[in-house]
Amino acid sequence: MKKIITIVGARPQLIKAAPLSLKLKERFEEVIVHTGQHYDYELSDIFFNELKIPHPKYNISVGSKSHGHQTGIMLIEIEKILLEEKPDIVIVHGDTNSTIAGALAAVKLHIPLAHNEAGLRSFNRLMPEEHNRVVTDHVADILFVPGENAVKNLAKEGIVKNVYNVGDVMFDSILLFEKLSGNSKILDELKVAPKNFYLSTIHRAENTDNISNLVSIFTAFSKLDKKIILPLHPRTKGRIESNNIAIPGNVKVIQPAGYIDMITLMKNAEVILTDSGGIQKEAFYLKTPSVTLRNETEWIETIQLGWNLLAGADTERILESIDLVKKAEKFDKPVYGNGNTSEKIVEVLKAIL
Ligand code: UD1
Repeated sequence: MKKIITIVGARPQLIKAAPLSLKLKERFEEVIVHTGQHYDYELSDIFFNELKIPHPKYNISVGSKSHGHQTGIMLIEIEKILLEEKPDIVIVHGDTNSTIAGALAAVKLHIPLAHNEAGLRSFNRLMPEEHNRVVTDHVADILFVPGENAVKNLAKEGIVKNVYNVGDVMFDSILLFEKLSGNSKILDELKVAPKNFYLSTIHRAENTDNISNLVSIFTAFSKLDKKIILPLHPRTKGRIESNNIAIPGNVKVIQPAGYIDMITLMKNAEVILTDSGGIQKEAFYLKTPSVTLRNETEWIETIQLGWNLLAGADTERILESIDLVKKAEKFDKPVYGNGNTSEKIVEVLKAIL
């Protein structure tokens, strides 16, 4: 049986790996390597438990460090594991430091590398994720892309070989786990009624490391007429505490939510206010409008179809965008595949290996 190594490390990679692992195990031996980039229970173990992801055989436990330090340790340790395990292929997901570390470790040992969620670009080189995407795409042997726009982005950079438009694996995750959202008690616990609250997540460096952005976002929130549920990423929590930033009274801060609770919150929010990439798409799949607290997005189709608006961190723009996106004409189009991305990836891997 051919052996695949999947590298995970940060929360969104666990959500992407879950449906794919289910399909991979029918045909391949999969070994999971967790870099430990995310280590808090709410950002890591809860997903292994809830989503039934096979337990990682290796955990590098890299923890929080500066970018170079964190990436360097992961590269050193992943190389050792690849030498030991001798996989036929390595799969990396998304755009985190764990992605680029896994990619470099694989290609330097001449092990074929597959990048899932390839071809995305924000064209903002100040984002660490943009470097991770560009480098990983340029060294990957097989590129699984979520949609047509990603195919075009790669072509502009001369990458046209072994590009497979398989759709977005996070659509598979939503379809797989949405069924369980009926079991969630989160709305009762938070005392919110469906479509009568906002949901927000904030964790991007451009917002958390810029205090005036955080303050401006919270000023907008203070002017909203409904409760805002804010599952707080530890990075953001740290910045709020160390800078004594006041959280408005209508914002309900909670621990980072597990996936089933998060799906329930996303599905039932009136509008989602987020700087996350993944949540913009999840909102789109669950038919909840969103306002993106950034000035650009990799998921431009969500905007073209009327479900999402860019507002940056500007107080007035955030408030206007919330009104506009509620009223906007919205279209349904399967721009990121049909929710069978895992199967398509397995078909490609079967043909190649
Ligand atoms: C990382 C990814 C980002 C992804 C996000 C999902 C990079 C460059 N960034 O950002 O693309 O969208 O994950 O959440 O890879 N921390 C904890 N506990 C944890 C993890 C982090 O307290 O379990 C805190 C630490 O203070 C750390 C900070 O969060 O310094 C940043 O963590 P890190 O994993 O480096 O980046 P994220 O902001 O989570």
